[in-house]
Amino acid sequence: MHHLPLKLAALLASAAAVSCQNYAQLAKQLSNTAQIYQPGTAAFNAAVLRWSNYSTPVANVVVVPGTENDVVQTVKFANQHSLPFLATNGVHGSITTLGKMTRGIEIHMSQLNSIVVAQDGSTATIGGGVMSKNLTDALWAVGKQTVTGTCECVGYMGPGLGGGHGWLQGRHGLVSDQYVSLNVVLANGSLITVNEHSELFWAMKGAGHNFGIVTSVTSQIYDIQHPNYAMETLIFSGSKVEAVYALANQQWLTNGATMPVDLINWSYWYFDPTTDAEKPVIAMYLIQEGVNKVDAAHTNPFLKLGPISTESVSGTYRDLAAWTGISLSDTPCQKTGNANPRFPIYLKSYNPIAQGLVYELFREATTAANSPFGHALFMFEGYSQQGVKAIGQDATAFAYREDNLLVAPLLTYAPNGPATDAIASALGNTIRQILFQGSGETSLNTYVNYAYGDETPAAWYGSDQWRQNRLSALKEDFDPAGQFSFYAPIRS
Ligand SMILES: Cc1cc2nc3c(=O)[nH]c(=O)nc-3n(C[C@H](O)[C@H](O)[C@H](O)COP(=O)(O)OP(=O)(O)OC[C@H]3O[C@@H](n4cnc5c(N)ncnc54)[C@H](O)[C@@H]3O)c2cc1C
Ligand SMILES: *[C@@H]1O[C@H](CO)[C@@H](O)[C@H](O)[C@H]1NC(C)=O
Ligand SMILES: *[C@@H]1O[C@H](CO)[C@@H](O)[C@H](O)[C@H]1NC(C)=O
Ligand SMILES: *[C@@H]1O[C@H](CO)[C@@H](O)[C@H](O)[C@H]1NC(C)=O
Ligand SMILES: *[C@@H]1O[C@H](CO)[C@@H](O)[C@H](O)[C@H]1NC(C)=O
Repeated sequence: MHHLPLKLAALLASAAAVSCQNYAQLAKQLSNTAQIYQPGTAAFNAAVLRWSNYSTPVANVVVVPGTENDVVQTVKFANQHSLPFLATNGVHGSITTLGKMTRGIEIHMSQLNSIVVAQDGSTATIGGGVMSKNLTDALWAVGKQTVTGTCECVGYMGPGLGGGHGWLQGRHGLVSDQYVSLNVVLANGSLITVNEHSELFWAMKGAGHNFGIVTSVTSQIYDIQHPNYAMETLIFSGSKVEAVYALANQQWLTNGATMPVDLINWSYWYFDPTTDAEKPVIAMYLIQEGVNKVDAAHTNPFLKLGPISTESVSGTYRDLAAWTGISLSDTPCQKTGNANPRFPIYLKSYNPIAQGLVYELFREATTAANSPFGHALFMFEGYSQQGVKAIGQDATAFAYREDNLLVAPLLTYAPNGPATDAIASALGNTIRQILFQGSGETSLNTYVNYAYGDETPAAWYGSDQWRQNRLSALKEDFDPAGQFSFYAPIRS
């Protein structure tokens, strides 16, 4: 009589986990270049490590497709076994909703890394696992370029599916504005081509993580017009915070004016006790295209504010990542084991008073004895916007073409239990709330790709009701069971 409970136990076990035998079955359906990594192996451990070690997705197996059809087979297999799945590439996604994945298959895209430039030189077809720097380098070698994310170690697809900001957006628009057509594996395992004639094309450009796995994309590319760049770094004392941002506003960000197309301003705040032992510094980067020295007309007003130090560099487009601390060898490209939450907000211009208030909170957080946030970084990204604004507000799912600045505190800390997580979340949200109130805007606009995870779909995809309706309807059509809902779900 005791064989009944045993049978039951076996049944329960097979319901809880897919056995190695089943993965052997999957392996038979995959090409001979595909890989399957089982837990406990070095390859598995390396593949599941992420940039931000907080609210991370958990997988029972990692599949590395070798072909587009391998992605199809893996999704179908996951569906047969009722397993969740998630595409990963640069592993820089950090939104807390990813933590809702507690089991299933990670589909690591790294082998789908081909880059093919069309004969006429106007487009390139780019694998869904291509990384930003690999694309930049491959195109550069043939005298071409396109809009990619700025950081060398993020994927090409990940940023673009949420819109995608990059150095060249002032010229050509967002990363996703370059898409001509995408090959997409849908939730049910169907492979479709999405282009301007498809319903889904609009949604892939800003809310794309919600709809499928992109195996490849054909994007517009351009002849390199302005290879050379210069950057001026001005380090200011934090005591000048209001003056610095009042000046940054003055010429370009008020009265409907925009940044010159060849100019990008970023600034970072961070605590560097070797420069100022008391409080965080303001590092202002003026980046200009097509010159070997940033025009005095741009630097002089800032020099008059009396920076602690200045430095000029010149080089090419490909040096920008290293100059701004986001090249392959910099900290943002290492997996440090830190939690890396950001609390982004888009702004039209700076409110110098609000900048002063959040500086005070940031100063406390980075300098207080025993604070976990000593290495936090506050980022202010002011790209040129001509290419972004040249495209209609409602042309794509990316909702924030009218905004000019992407602002976010990055509250890096060593994970230390839920109490510290809660402090990070409270601080980040307080900072964001002050900036929001100071902006006078009526809706909180956030970049989905920097989002913390506690924002609403309205904050990720735009508060206009028609946007929410359109996205919800597409979600119902293409992903009714919400299988692509680990990354900033349109519907929770
Ligand atoms: C240091 C740093 C710098 C950054 N710089 C920029 C920047 O300059 N511009 C910018 O716009 N953003 C930037 N980001 C944000 C970036 O857009 C997101 O972190 C993005 O999620 C990274 O994609 P990934 O492939 O690196 O990460 P992953 O975590 O591997 O992917 C993120 C998500 O994208 C989806 N995904 C990835 N590949 C595919 C695919 N082929 N098909 C379908 N879905 C896919 C999945 O949902 C996945 O969860 C930066 C982030 C960091 C940490
Ligand atoms: C991508 O770039 C990295 C770093 O430069 C390099 O190690 C890797 O081989 C490249 N991958 C491809 C497919 O070119
Ligand atoms: C960038 O710098 C110029 C400096 O000359 C300034 O006028 C402009 O407002 C700055 N823009 C941003 C976004 O900070
Ligand atoms: C991630 O954080 C947890 C604590 O939350 C810690 O145990 C683990 O070692 C960290 N991972 C890495 C790779 O450092
Ligand atoms: C898969 O989903 C798409 C979009 O909803 C649908 O058009 C297609 O018919 C489905 N395919 C199958 C085989 O069910």
